[in-house]
Amino acid sequence: MIIKNICCIGAGYVGGPTMAVIAQKCPQIKVTVVDVNASRIDAWNAADLSKLPVFEPDLDKVVAESRGRNLYFSTDIDEAIHEADMIFISVNTPTKTYGKGKGMAADLKYIERCARQIARVAKQDKIIVEKSTLPVRTAEAIKSILDNTGNGPQFQILSNPEFLAEGTAVQDLLFPDRVLIGGESSEEGKQAIQALVAIYAHWVPRERILTTNVWSSELSKLTANAFLAQRVSSINAMSEICEKTGADIDEVAQAIGMDSRIGPKFLKASVGFGGSCFQKDILNLVYIAKTYGLHEVAQYWEQVIKINDYQKNRFSEMIVSTLYNTVSGKKITFLGWAFKRDTNDTRESPAIQVADNLISEQAQLGVYDPKVSPERMYTDLDHLNTRSEQENRAAVQVYTSPYDACHGAHAIAVLTEWEEFKSYDWQRIYESMPKPAFVFDGRGILDTMALRAIGFVCYTIGKGS
Ligand code: UDX
Ligand code: UDX
Repeated sequence: MIIKNICCIGAGYVGGPTMAVIAQKCPQIKVTVVDVNASRIDAWNAADLSKLPVFEPDLDKVVAESRGRNLYFSTDIDEAIHEADMIFISVNTPTKTYGKGKGMAADLKYIERCARQIARVAKQDKIIVEKSTLPVRTAEAIKSILDNTGNGPQFQILSNPEFLAEGTAVQDLLFPDRVLIGGESSEEGKQAIQALVAIYAHWVPRERILTTNVWSSELSKLTANAFLAQRVSSINAMSEICEKTGADIDEVAQAIGMDSRIGPKFLKASVGFGGSCFQKDILNLVYIAKTYGLHEVAQYWEQVIKINDYQKNRFSEMIVSTLYNTVSGKKITFLGWAFKRDTNDTRESPAIQVADNLISEQAQLGVYDPKVSPERMYTDLDHLNTRSEQENRAAVQVYTSPYDACHGAHAIAVLTEWEEFKSYDWQRIYESMPKPAFVFDGRGILDTMALRAIGFVCYTIGKGS
């Protein structure tokens, strides 16, 4: 089966970049990305490529190459479904905030809505590809809805989890470690798998395209994210031991990372992991384990999140205790708000919890982030429901210049590892601050020796004094 027409429902951080790369690499396939959010679609269609709704290095170039040629962004979901041979579902699957599984299970209402819409509109056979991260056996639910409410066409469901990391999405899509495709073992299932393999084979070496059964594919995504998050929590747990004993977490990470069984990646101690996936996927895994009565397994993975919460709170407590046990009325400046560098995404960013803790201690926050908008920061804080929207706005001032942000601050806290922070004129910043001038490096990126030479008092995650 040769695919000529692809539709992707969900123009978010995953759907947008993934489809842009497929369109770039497969100019013979028409790719239409649709979304219920009209302003998001408008932004994808913006003539000014700096206005794309997702910031990713080089994404503007990839979009520029294909948009209007074979890549389209639209709100006409029915039309795109009708035309497509293959439909990717890439809508968000947030953690449930109500009812059974509240705070843990994935909320599948958007997935179900998509499945029902496809069933209503489709007149010909289609391949449905799950891109969103989903609990194991969701494909079964999608198939049941399609088969029971459809108008006769046959549907094949594939699981094709996305492993791209934000900030490196384009590189990850162009040169993936592997592409994973799960499908049924029936003849039709095998044909559907091959149709998707053929798309990726335009640019991914065949030996990197892995095919499995649907459940293995769905579970592999949750497992990969749980393992990655666990590495961060493990190194963060060690970071506190380093601070107490005088060891240096970067030296420890280097020493263990040279063991080829451990490997060097994902060993950077930090103020905590964020992002839309790690916490959500682990909670999901915990929920699945509990559903099957596997309480020890559930507790094991839950601990990864507990350490992460602990690390964020530990960081804000270190700031308060160092500033003579009070930050009331003191200006504290955050460099960075995004959950990692090179993205404008702030979902689950550790900056949010750290800020909330410090505002509760009556600090006045200044924030500078090169890519995150002030509205986004305020909305992030509002979602915690700790205080009123007015109080959040009164407590946080957002700056467009790092020097203005740091001016008059008692302390500077690095929350995101943006490259530009390293090359600031730190002497100038020092002169604009009351003394002692404190720096709390939650990402371990600054040259502490140089800062100390200027006069700063520095604290870095995982470094003993
Ligand atoms: C994706 C996956 O969906 C998620 O499961 C995975 O874990 C991470 O990647 P992401 O692309 O980051 O999520 O989400 P988001 O940026 O929120 O994009 C989802 C888009 O789907 C939004 O633009 C939303 O408007 C759209 N949407 C949602 C629809 O078009 N229809 C719906 O019914 C629901
Ligand atoms: C992750 C997975 O890496 C990706 O494969 C999956 O598709 C989606 O979830 P993402 O959340 O975009 O990607 O970014 P990632 O690079 O994994 O970072 C997640 C968080 O962990 C960030 O807050 C990052 O700062 C933190 N982190 C990462 C550390 O604190 N230390 C590290 O060594 C690595």
